Amino acid sequence: STTEESTTPADAAGIETVTVVGAGTMGSQIAAVAALAGFRTHLVDIAQEQLDAAAEQLRRRFDRDVEKGRRSRAQVSAAWERLGTTTDRDAAAAASDIVIEAAVEDLTIKRRIFSELDAVCDPGTILATNSSNIVSSRVADAVEHPERVCNLHFFNPALVMECVELVPHPQTSPETMERAAAFTRALGKTLVTLRKEIPGFVANRLLNAIRQEALSLLDQGVADFEDIDAAARTALRHPMGPFELMDLVGVDVVHMIRQAEYEQTGDPESLPHPMITDLYEAGRYGRKSGRGWYSYP
Ligand code: CAA
Repeated sequence: STTEESTTPADAAGIETVTVVGAGTMGSQIAAVAALAGFRTHLVDIAQEQLDAAAEQLRRRFDRDVEKGRRSRAQVSAAWERLGTTTDRDAAAAASDIVIEAAVEDLTIKRRIFSELDAVCDPGTILATNSSNIVSSRVADAVEHPERVCNLHFFNPALVMECVELVPHPQTSPETMERAAAFTRALGKTLVTLRKEIPGFVANRLLNAIRQEALSLLDQGVADFEDIDAAARTALRHPMGPFELMDLVGVDVVHMIRQAEYEQTGDPESLPHPMITDLYEAGRYGRKSGRGWYSYP
């Protein structure tokens, strides 16, 4: 699809306007992806400072893309025109064909957001959560129209990563799945469709298996974490080793994901590895805090 002009993308199943709730790392880049693909996009947060910070980061990202010749100035300007930021979530959502929630990974908060969105949005509006560990059935029972609820899971950094996982809960309608799939394709992403819910979906479960093994090797004193990362990069050709990736995603996020999974499964195997908990409690969250497994100047 073209991103040069301000027309909306074809073949997006009638989806023209997008709201992204939560202007953190994921939400702001998901909004940028949508705006670049030609959708009118509202990026929403409860905090104006968060919106300002997100806009500033996206502006730098776009400038860098133009400098490097990855996108044209016209493309980026057009996307910028389509992208608005607001603290008025309900007004933005009521005017949108799809709402993607990328707020904090807290079930109580997500349930409240979904029930409020459900009340203001037309029943034809898709309500998706970007969560990979809170499956959508856990928010769908808080709404009157569960058939339009699903998970639409992007990867970090969303501007770069091609994969998006689309996950139904038992009551998600085929129409919702078809429209969400068409929307995802119109974003230029590669769609991975799950047939049913499971916390972590496909990609994070694969990642988690590698991460757990890496932590176990480190814990047993088999190798230093830098060497384990080097093995993943050079023997498996992963772009990053498991420890670097934890620093990118956020040790706090990894900790929270494991904790949430434990709450859903009750399986002690799901609990965060003690080494993760140690870093988490020391405030070593990774890139965002300047230090995680590695240090960032
Ligand atoms: N945001 C947007 N674009 C970014 C970026 C970011 N945070 N970081 C890098 N890029 C882009 C930029 O275009 C950058 O080029 P410039 O520096 O010239 O602008 C380009 O990628 C290359 O970046 P780098 O040279 O810094 O490093 P790299 O070649 O290693 O690429 C990477 C960085 C794309 C992040 C790559 O290392 C990678 O693919 N890593 C693995 C990421 C991954 O596995 N993500 C999934 C995490 S799991 C998840 O997200 C699920 C969840 O639920 C938590």
